[in-house]
Amino acid sequence: MPSAAMAPSAIRKPQRVMARRSSRPATVATRSYLFNRSVRSTPYRIKRASAQTLHFENGWNVLDASGGAAVTGIGHLSTRVEQVMIKTLKRGIAYISSMMFDTDVAEDFARFLITTTDGKMTRAVFYSSGTEANEAAYKVALQYHATEKANPEPTRTLFIARDRSYHGTTLGALDMSGHKARRELYERVLPHNTHHISPCYAYRGLQTGESVAEYVTRLKNELEQKIQDLGPKNVAAFICEPVVGAALGCVPAEAGYLAAMREVCDRYGILLIFDEVMCGMGRTGYLHAWQKEGVAPDIQTVGKGLAGGFQQLSAMLVSPKVNDAFEYGPGSGAFSHGHTFQNYPLACAAGLEVQKIIQEENLLQNVKEKGFRLSKSLKKRLSNHRHVGDIRGAGLFWGIEFVKDKQTMEPFPADMKINWRIYEKGLAPPYEIHVYPGMGTADGVNGDHIILSPSYNITDTEIDAIVDRVARLIEDYFDTLDVPATP
Ligand SMILES: Cc1ncc(COP(=O)(O)O)c(C=O)c1O
Repeated sequence: MPSAAMAPSAIRKPQRVMARRSSRPATVATRSYLFNRSVRSTPYRIKRASAQTLHFENGWNVLDASGGAAVTGIGHLSTRVEQVMIKTLKRGIAYISSMMFDTDVAEDFARFLITTTDGKMTRAVFYSSGTEANEAAYKVALQYHATEKANPEPTRTLFIARDRSYHGTTLGALDMSGHKARRELYERVLPHNTHHISPCYAYRGLQTGESVAEYVTRLKNELEQKIQDLGPKNVAAFICEPVVGAALGCVPAEAGYLAAMREVCDRYGILLIFDEVMCGMGRTGYLHAWQKEGVAPDIQTVGKGLAGGFQQLSAMLVSPKVNDAFEYGPGSGAFSHGHTFQNYPLACAAGLEVQKIIQEENLLQNVKEKGFRLSKSLKKRLSNHRHVGDIRGAGLFWGIEFVKDKQTMEPFPADMKINWRIYEKGLAPPYEIHVYPGMGTADGVNGDHIILSPSYNITDTEIDAIVDRVARLIEDYFDTLDVPATP
């Protein structure tokens, strides 16, 4: 019972926004004590999950085609991960402070990660979220230039990132992000030392008659021009996602783009940061998305799939160039940045086991094969749909972009919340499919897409079920939407 001293808002009856929009039984919605993403709605409650299915408290059994935001990599259950975590707990080293101590699990996982980079990266540090990893990347780049490298250049404090990008939610990481809608509320307090250029997004960026090579050259020139405008000695780093995730809906860089960006950065002494929080750790069929083109960054961040959702875990990897400046340069060698839960042993133990499973079960090959099946079937079923503008992606990371007008690529207005409505409709029977919605695709505010990013151990049958359910969902959704309202 609420106490008499409770504020009126605390005892107000909960609004059942999601419940009203769907066929969710009203009895499920009770007041939540969580400060949810929206306190005006109550999310659906998951009772348990099996390998690829989420079992809802209301009885729905939803095929997980997205693994949250591309987090789940080996399904929702794993005896091996469970056992390794219990073993770590039993050793009493679930938490050990990284400020004073080291553990074999954190060290083993760092070694494992580094050995997968063909010598391109040389040390790793673990954090808890993608945001934290990118915030660390931001600071390590600043410190590299300011005090650690030979002939320090403390003037290098500016960053270049791309429009419609997302690198995280803290003020530094959000400042790097070019996603208008996500920045909007905080614009007044952001540091504003990141400047944005165009993304590599052929569907909307490639001009009529322009070849991909010409497009890449145009983007390369844009980066170079931005550096000139800001003053080459003022720029610390350029950050981009090799395959853009949530902000654009699985848009891979065009061939030659990463190499072109690398070349410009090198010419001006600017560090190159790859944010692989969403696209990394096998999601594209390569353990590191940059390995497809063979263009390595100076700093790399990974997250989501690193521990496959069994623990919250991210990492920052640094190249020999960055590490050597800290190890042998004129500065202190001490990265002026740390977290209580840095190198958290329990999370590292889970992450290492997830990565061993991916390696031992040859799951990257499965990502490539099932990704091919997924993309081929999706395109066959949906390419001609009047509101499907583009289907793009890599590995098991596919985005479907919706448009109002297929010829002009005009997006639906943001307030129609097309992506969210499709997501929500998909959860309920007869579809029972979990897709990941995204907005702002066209201009940072308008534009809709959904992401499909199932686990790496998905089967052919499950891929076919995903395609069938997603196709029916999209067809049914727009059939209802396009029927003119009766006067
Ligand atoms: C590319 C990218 N970078 C960074 C982040 C932030 O990660 P987190 O939500 O774990 O802080 C995200 C999250 O969606 C992301 O997609």
